[in-house]
Amino acid sequence: MRVLVTYQDIPGPGLIAGLQERFDVRVNPEKGYMSRESLLEQVSNVDGLVCLLTERIDGELLDAAPGLKVVSNYAVGYNNVDVDAATSRGVMVTNTPDVVTDATADLAWAVMMGIARDIVVVDRYTRSGEWRQWRPEAFIAADISGMTLGIVGLGRIGQAMAKRAAGFDMRVLYTDAQRINHEVEQRCRAEYVALDDLLRESDFVTIHVPLNAQTHHLIDGRALSMMKPTAYLVNAARGPIIHEAALVAALKRRTIAGAALDVYENEPRLAEGLAELDNVILVPHLGANSRETRRRMAAMTVENIMAGLSGGVPPNLVNPEVLSKRRPL
Ligand code: GLV
Ligand code: GLV
Repeated sequence: MRVLVTYQDIPGPGLIAGLQERFDVRVNPEKGYMSRESLLEQVSNVDGLVCLLTERIDGELLDAAPGLKVVSNYAVGYNNVDVDAATSRGVMVTNTPDVVTDATADLAWAVMMGIARDIVVVDRYTRSGEWRQWRPEAFIAADISGMTLGIVGLGRIGQAMAKRAAGFDMRVLYTDAQRINHEVEQRCRAEYVALDDLLRESDFVTIHVPLNAQTHHLIDGRALSMMKPTAYLVNAARGPIIHEAALVAALKRRTIAGAALDVYENEPRLAEGLAELDNVILVPHLGANSRETRRRMAAMTVENIMAGLSGGVPPNLVNPEVLSKRRPL
C-alpha cells in the first residue's frame, strides 16, 4: 500500500522510516509545502496521506483520491479537513491529541505571563541602553497570582491551563458548548459560567476551543467590549476564533489591556495594525513545537496510518461514524 507524506521535514525521527517499514512511501519531492496541483495529482493512487494543518483536505481533494483510506493530520486541530466530506466517502481522519496538550498549555501560559509583565517591551528597553537607573515606578505591570482566569473550552488543553492556574492561586471560570462533568470541574476547581459572564469577570481570557462553525469569530467586537479594560486575551487555539480586526481596534483604544497570540486569522499574515501595537505578544503558531511533543506527534501519526491500513481502528480516529462504511483495504 502507498502512503503520501506531503512534507519532507516533519520533525520527529522515524516518521518516514517508520512508514517505510510497511508501506510504499512517497514523500513530496520539493522542499517546503506541496503545491495544490501537485497534491491533487499525487493523491490519485495512494491509500494513506500524512498531511499538515496548512493543507486543505476537502471534497475536491478526496475525489482526486479514490483509493484513499486514511488521512493522518499532523496536528490536534483538524479544521483543515472537511470531516463530513471524508466520512461520506468512507475515509478515516485522524489527529494527534494528548501529546500536544502540555506543550500548548505551556506556550499559552508563557505568553500570558509575558504580556502581563510586559516582558517583550522591557527586554527591548533593557538591551537598548535606555535603562539608566532602577526606579520604583518603572513598568508597573499586572498581577497574575490570585487573579481570575477565564478558560473558553475546558477540553484537554483548557484543563491543562486550569492545572497551571492552581499553582498561581487563581480563580478559574470556564465556559464550553456544554457543562463538563462534575469530576473534571472539581479537579480543575473551575466554575461553569456563560461566555458573557466569563468575559466580564476574567482578568485573563484564554481560548482553547476547536475552530468550527460555532466558534468562528466567537470573540468578536461585542465579546471584546464585555472584557475589563485591565484584562488580557490569550489565543493558542486557532486564529479565526477571534475577529482579528476587532481585536486590533480594541487594543488600539485600550478597551482591553493586551493580547498574547500564537495563532492568526490569515496565517502568516497579521491583521492591519497588529504588529505596530506594543500591548501584544505575537508568536508564530508554535504551541506544539517542543522537542518531545514533536517526537510523539510523529509516532502517533505513524500509528494512526498503520492501524487504519491494516484493518484496525486508528487510536485517534476523529470520525468513528465512518467505521460502518470505511473503504475496503
Ligand atoms: C497545532 O496547531 C495543532 O493543532 O496540533
Ligand atoms: C526588589 O528587587 C526588591 O528587593 O523588592
